[in-house]
Amino acid sequence: MEDRHDSIRAIRWEEGRLCLLDQRRLPFQEDYLYLDDAAGVAAAIRDMVVRGAPAIGITAAFAVVLAARQRQAQAPGDWRALLDEDIRLLAAARPTAVNLNWALQRMQACLAGAGADPGAALLEEAYRIHTEDVAANHCMGDHGAGLIQPGDAVLTHCNTGSLATGGYGTALGVIRSAWKAGKLTGVYAGETRPWLQGARLTAWELARDRIPATLITDSAAAFLMQRQGVQWVIVGADRVTANGDVINKIGTYNLAINCRHHGVGFMVAAPRSTLDFSLASGQAVVIEERGADEILSLGGERIAAPGASAWNPAFDVTPAELVDYLVTEAGVIEAPDRQKLAALRPPA
Ligand code: MRU
Repeated sequence: MEDRHDSIRAIRWEEGRLCLLDQRRLPFQEDYLYLDDAAGVAAAIRDMVVRGAPAIGITAAFAVVLAARQRQAQAPGDWRALLDEDIRLLAAARPTAVNLNWALQRMQACLAGAGADPGAALLEEAYRIHTEDVAANHCMGDHGAGLIQPGDAVLTHCNTGSLATGGYGTALGVIRSAWKAGKLTGVYAGETRPWLQGARLTAWELARDRIPATLITDSAAAFLMQRQGVQWVIVGADRVTANGDVINKIGTYNLAINCRHHGVGFMVAAPRSTLDFSLASGQAVVIEERGADEILSLGGERIAAPGASAWNPAFDVTPAELVDYLVTEAGVIEAPDRQKLAALRPPA
């Protein structure tokens, strides 16, 4: 790969197996897991070996290739029913990111159109989903960077980079493109409790790209804005509903409110695979709630007082009216709403 800013691939197909960079071990260990069945991949998605909306969609697509091969070998007469079960298992691995279902639906459509031995067609489709995602990210990078003025500084949240996608990234792709264009004077990353995707993953990606980054605690964002430290907050999305509501990593809603109060631009970068026209608004989205232990403990050590409990929603809903720009591979939408989004709807 020639682009120094696009050198990381966390999902690979290697000699008939799916190879995932184990994101739980980053930034200190670069371990790879090799998987060859759907149950293993579903567990990897659930346990955050791989995370990020487009990345889990791509991973699930390759899992269908593995599952079809395994089920055909196990039950030549009845493998399609078993494969359907595998697909249901994958779809249930994490509930909020729509890309997971979107990719599985594409694989099912491919399966329906393929003959008795669909292995090659499925693998081709999984590769296509992966490469299309990287291409979409580069387009979003260009579109989003076009909005940024020379001298601007940005804050981002969670990890939206190569690790969260097929490569390059959504919001982090915009930041990479703006950095390459020489526009940015600073990049801030929120640490993103409780999984610390910002501190562990975004900081790791930016360091590899030699883009200087400054970490802040999630609670420092409003003060950074008050001190005029940033002109933009740029985030990704796990789902954007038909009215433009944005479902993304917990804390995104706080940032959007703070942006509006301080006159800081709020930009969401998401490929069209993240748009969900089946849901009218963000209130209808199932928000994943993860274990209390992720908040009560850190690195396996309890940090909260004995007897304390915790509520741990992994995502929140930012109302469309707080979004200044929605950037997709198709271009930029200012102040997204139902009508503007409808123009991006694929033909029925
Ligand atoms: O819980 P995670 O780490 O899967 O959450 C990821 C995010 O919220 C990202 O911001 C999102 O997937 C969009 S960017 C690819």
